[in-house]
Amino acid sequence: MATMRDVAKRAGVSVATVSRVINNKGKTSKATREAVLKAIEDLSYTPNVVARGLSTRRSYTVAFILPTITNPFFPEMAKGAENVARENGYNVFLCNTDDRRDILKNYIETLPSQYVDGIIINSQNIKREDLEQLKTLGVPVVMMDRVLHDQNFTTITVKNREGGRIATQHLIDVGCEKVAHISGLETDPNAKERLWGYLDVASKQSWFEQSLIGQAEFSVQSGYQVAKEIFLRHNDVDGIFCANDLIAIGALKAAHEWGKKVPRDLSIVGFDGIDMSGLTIPSITTIKQPIYQMGELAMKELLEQIESKETDPTKYELDVELVLRDSTMKPLNK
Ligand code: RIB
Repeated sequence: MATMRDVAKRAGVSVATVSRVINNKGKTSKATREAVLKAIEDLSYTPNVVARGLSTRRSYTVAFILPTITNPFFPEMAKGAENVARENGYNVFLCNTDDRRDILKNYIETLPSQYVDGIIINSQNIKREDLEQLKTLGVPVVMMDRVLHDQNFTTITVKNREGGRIATQHLIDVGCEKVAHISGLETDPNAKERLWGYLDVASKQSWFEQSLIGQAEFSVQSGYQVAKEIFLRHNDVDGIFCANDLIAIGALKAAHEWGKKVPRDLSIVGFDGIDMSGLTIPSITTIKQPIYQMGELAMKELLEQIESKETDPTKYELDVELVLRDSTMKPLNK
């Protein structure tokens, strides 16, 4: 069965142009319009999005685009979303992009013609053109976690910068005299905010220098590697704020190999609050995100858009919470 992409290829235009012609939205020349319509006829293309518009039937299926499924953070988030969907009679397509722009683009271009009623997008690779294309198609969208802030779309994030400040200040409060930060990649908007939160506090300290900051992927192996690089640069570091819990688990391993007792010689704070962070020895003090609840809220917002059509975009910035465990010393005289 021909897809929208086949029509675009045959007509020599973009998928976005095909969707504009189908939905009679935006500006297209007469020649382009005729080329698209001829391609549709030649290929006997019957776009679901048109069938849906005509019949106003719903598929009761939504898509949830995720950056990866190897980090326990995302399945927990997806579970919150799926449970709300199921309670309301909707199925969910989970779409893993492996953090790749080309895979995300393919989902953006094909999902609308695969008859989904709406899309939740969690991706640092999303672009304004993608959002415009989906809006042109009239596909309800909610962005969460790694978002591109846009006044026309509901977004759900947490107070990342405040979480960075809380983590760093906590390490100082427990007596750390030199605190490093293992940041996530600068392409991740949340990692950038957490780094700023660290700098808000650390840059005011006499011990601060830029070389106390390392950059890692959100993985155990990368956290392990970067922690060792920091110990090489600053063996006297006695506190590390890690941009997520997987990095913190890697730093725990590096400390062990480096002969640093946690928390006696080195206190570690993570970010996320995935279950695994409570199972390590020592368990990891972390900045907990309302992961499951974010998934629930995103799906509730999406279904609201699908069912009522008239919802105003909302910008949610949810609270985070310091969860004290065994990887940090107890606060001094508190
Ligand atoms: O651990 C995965 C990270 O990616 C989380 O901190 C989440 O906020 C996302 O940005």
